[in-house]
Amino acid sequence: MTVHPLRLAQEVARPQTGRQPHPFESRAMPPSAPSDSPGSILLIGASRGLGAAMAAELLRRGGHVTGTVRPGGARTALHDLADAYGARVEIETLDITEPEQIAALHDRLAGRCFDILFVNAGTANPRQDETIAEASTEDFIRVMVTNALAPLRVIEGLQERVAPCGVIGVMSSGQGSIGNNVNGGHEVYRGSKAALNMYMRCYAARHAADQRALLLLAPGWIRTRLGGPNAPLSLEETVPRIVTTLLAQRGTPGLRYLDREGRTVPW
Ligand SMILES: NC(=O)c1ccc[n+]([C@@H]2O[C@H](COP(=O)([O-])OP(=O)(O)OC[C@H]3O[C@@H](n4cnc5c(N)ncnc54)[C@H](OP(=O)(O)O)[C@@H]3O)[C@@H](O)[C@H]2O)c1
Repeated sequence: MTVHPLRLAQEVARPQTGRQPHPFESRAMPPSAPSDSPGSILLIGASRGLGAAMAAELLRRGGHVTGTVRPGGARTALHDLADAYGARVEIETLDITEPEQIAALHDRLAGRCFDILFVNAGTANPRQDETIAEASTEDFIRVMVTNALAPLRVIEGLQERVAPCGVIGVMSSGQGSIGNNVNGGHEVYRGSKAALNMYMRCYAARHAADQRALLLLAPGWIRTRLGGPNAPLSLEETVPRIVTTLLAQRGTPGLRYLDREGRTVPW
């Protein structure tokens, strides 16, 4: 049987065994009780797939979504949401691999303060069955830059626009877990998400005194263009849980690596 790159089994966390939480994972008491409304979210990569579905779920719950699509003017699922929800949707443009576009977005959003920044945008190499040594240098660079370097540039570049007690999250993957990797495979993608996790830990270490919640989310293997048609999970059954887990981080500072149910994934 062909195993898809984003196998659900590797997205699901192992049960906890009574270990002590790492200092990055949780600190202090919530400074304020989270409200029911999602508030305002800056959602990076909201044109389709998980990003567009998260935008729809946040809007359904009463949130205000500023979503980004890549420049070029093509109509996307986010445009459909803007038609349906009017002023509660704003559409911005960003290619996360272009640092000058991050700086320009930072400037366009001057004076804004979002409750949540979530970087969803990500990619995979076309031949997921190849080993790291077989992958082309071009694919390796493209996936690593998009999945590991660019999200941290977006976070560093836009953190000023996030409330001091807000949430900064990134879409990681269970495939980024080094501890859970007992089968190998999908090596370029895996390495890029493991690197993303490492760079978020670097960010968390440098911001240890911050009151913001930091999240690396492993959503599960879901049917999208990236997940492919053989993924066992639909957007409908996973995205409400993903959004609930994201919103549940509000008010609890520190970095956590969680699956869509809010369970810790081994680093
Ligand atoms: N689906 C799964 O099973 C699964 C599992 C684990 C993790 N994930 C992660 O979830 C995230 C979303 O994946 P998906 O399944 O929804 O995939 P998808 O349907 O292929 O969507 C990918 C999204 O990322 C955007 N994007 C890609 N490169 C970009 C760039 N350079 N700048 C700005 N936006 C860019 C795409 O925009 P365009 O429309 O402009 O291309 C699109 O909105 C990714 O980070 C992925 O690694 C997915």
